[in-house]
Amino acid sequence: MSTSDQATSVLLQEKRVFNPKPAKQLGFDRWHIDSLEQYKALHEASVRDPESFWREEAKRLDWFEPFHTVCQWEAPDAKWFLGGRTNACYNCVDRHVQAGHGEQVAIIWEGEPVAPRTGHPASSSAYAKEPEIRRLTYRELQLEVSRCASTLKALGVKKGDVVTIYMPMIPELAIAMLACVRIGAAHSVIFGGFAPHAITERAIDAHSKVIITADGGYRRGDIVPLQKNVEESVTQLANHGHIINHVLVVKRTGHQPPSERFKTGASHIGATKFHWWHETVGASGDACPCESMDSEDMLFLLYTSGSTGKPKGIVHTTAGYLAFVQMTARLTFNLFPDSGQVFWCSADIGWITGHSYVLYGLLMNRVPTLMYEGAPNFPTMEGGKGDRFWEIIARHRVTHFYTAPTAIRTFMKWGDELPAKHDMSCLKVLGTVGEPINPEAWMWYHKHIGREVCPIVDTYWQTETGGHICTPIPGAIPTKPGSCTVPMLGIDAAIVNEQGEELGANKGGLFVIRKPWPSMLRGVFGNRERFISNYFGRLKDPATGQPLYFSADGARRDEDGYFWVQGRVDDVIKVSGHLLGTMEVESALVSHPFVAEAAVVGYPHEVKGNAICAFVTLRGTWYAKNPGKQPSDELRKELIAHVRKEVGALAQPDQVRFTEGLPKTRSGKIMRRLLRDVAAGVEKITQDTTTLEDFSVVAKLRQDDE
Ligand code: WT7
Repeated sequence: MSTSDQATSVLLQEKRVFNPKPAKQLGFDRWHIDSLEQYKALHEASVRDPESFWREEAKRLDWFEPFHTVCQWEAPDAKWFLGGRTNACYNCVDRHVQAGHGEQVAIIWEGEPVAPRTGHPASSSAYAKEPEIRRLTYRELQLEVSRCASTLKALGVKKGDVVTIYMPMIPELAIAMLACVRIGAAHSVIFGGFAPHAITERAIDAHSKVIITADGGYRRGDIVPLQKNVEESVTQLANHGHIINHVLVVKRTGHQPPSERFKTGASHIGATKFHWWHETVGASGDACPCESMDSEDMLFLLYTSGSTGKPKGIVHTTAGYLAFVQMTARLTFNLFPDSGQVFWCSADIGWITGHSYVLYGLLMNRVPTLMYEGAPNFPTMEGGKGDRFWEIIARHRVTHFYTAPTAIRTFMKWGDELPAKHDMSCLKVLGTVGEPINPEAWMWYHKHIGREVCPIVDTYWQTETGGHICTPIPGAIPTKPGSCTVPMLGIDAAIVNEQGEELGANKGGLFVIRKPWPSMLRGVFGNRERFISNYFGRLKDPATGQPLYFSADGARRDEDGYFWVQGRVDDVIKVSGHLLGTMEVESALVSHPFVAEAAVVGYPHEVKGNAICAFVTLRGTWYAKNPGKQPSDELRKELIAHVRKEVGALAQPDQVRFTEGLPKTRSGKIMRRLLRDVAAGVEKITQDTTTLEDFSVVAKLRQDDE
């Protein structure tokens, strides 16, 4: 049985359908789209005549200069809103102030610590009841962003430069991003959970000369040493001949005495100068105009894992991204300004979800966006549980909550009593993103968080798509647990076979998009070849000969036209909703002095969705040092710690299995399917984990199968 058959047979059993509710029942004045018929008519028109559709939609942005052409498509290159000029920060902030909404709340922020902020929060016994909360109005945001923007200019940042941002979830992260785009610089945000090496690799790739960070960030009562990681990366970079000119540091934790690096005149590692944000931002003045940007100027870079080689810098450009993200945020979540909505997406801004639906999509729609700094289980209860998320929802009267299936599965494990303790009657729409949601988790979310009334929007999309590609639109689309339902307006999606032919109902195939859409990636930074081969090189439309955009996901479409995404078909693993290239983890392993070869595969995991299993062969040097011994648990732990240090905690393997040789096909390809079966326990090689796995027999038997 192929993987797609298996997924089909499981999913076919899911027959439950949940119909949309009247808007009033959920406390909305109305739905933006309120029937299936209306959706169908709009979608059909948007795909038949995209020019008219997007010309209308683009009117929701403010333009410095109008565009003359909606779209120019020379596959795989799309240009949108040609000739137009605008600015992302202007659309998110300034225009609201100008329209008289300056006193409205733009960002609500809650810090993680609940103890008095002196000393280490976890070690303090005197817990304060209230955490630290900040609310920024559009006017305040405009001022903070302008100050930061003029500081960046003073530090030599110019239009077209890439600024690296490595920060905790604090308001300054949003301020820094908006400050970059205000002056026409692109941001490249690196998730704070990544290791120094990840910063180094990305800064080199992006030719980035300025880094914005914080001394530390709070996470489950611990402090993540962000500045220390940046210092390490700056040194690594200098060794590569790449000099970071400036590092701007927000003092968040104050957990270490001001480093030597900040002393006036001597504030540097080599040629890199370090500056405290609070001493620098503001010193260059309060005013800084929004740069006029071409529609197709780069807005940001965001790195994502690929199946081969280094992470890819996904390029998004200004107007197309803004147009698509404002629309999807509005329709998917039924957003309206001035209606008491509070939107909370729990994703870190370091991922595309945070870019589009913590920051840009919300500010453009003028709906307050909530940012939470820390973990769902801080303060930590017995057994590692926590109810902080539910407390936050109740405290801030959150109306929209958007999270990932892996988080939902964790909450399920922590028990029904925790959400039950909190008044979450404020919730209207629930969202999920990141991986297919299993029907049990969907049902739990529906019942225990959504009071069996809130629509659940299962949003399918990618870093590369910029915004939602398939999702129910509440009010219009009946939902089925586990299905991301139907394409977004303007998205011409299909399931095809290897020949690019569209498949009939319930046939497992490949997920493609046939026509360009405004927020599609414009490239892989500095790597045209990878852009073409990864996304457009595999499938062609047999009717037109045009390349099709392939998302690298396997999926099927049911008899109602609903999409059911089955997961990646490449060597990329989704662990707790985060993409990891098997190559990244393998490279980290072989950089360890004792490792000769490594093969990394994913296997199903109850909470994480997938977990990582690494098969490792050791070098002679290890055997020479440990004569007559089998690789120990200690070595296993050392390798796990090594991956953690090189890539980050996300990438650490759950299993490390030692073998004398990796199973390979006659042509020398690692038999990954066999390894996946072994990792999942489907195929047993060695029962006893203290001995070496011997693949020779099984590999021979399965040669023809691979
Ligand atoms: C991959 C993209 C999209 C923002 C977060 C992840 C998987 C994402 C769903 C969903 C099934 C999903 C796909 C996709 N995925 N959302 N609702 N149902 N699968 O962005 O890190 O670029 O990952 O996540 O496999 O290709 P990303």
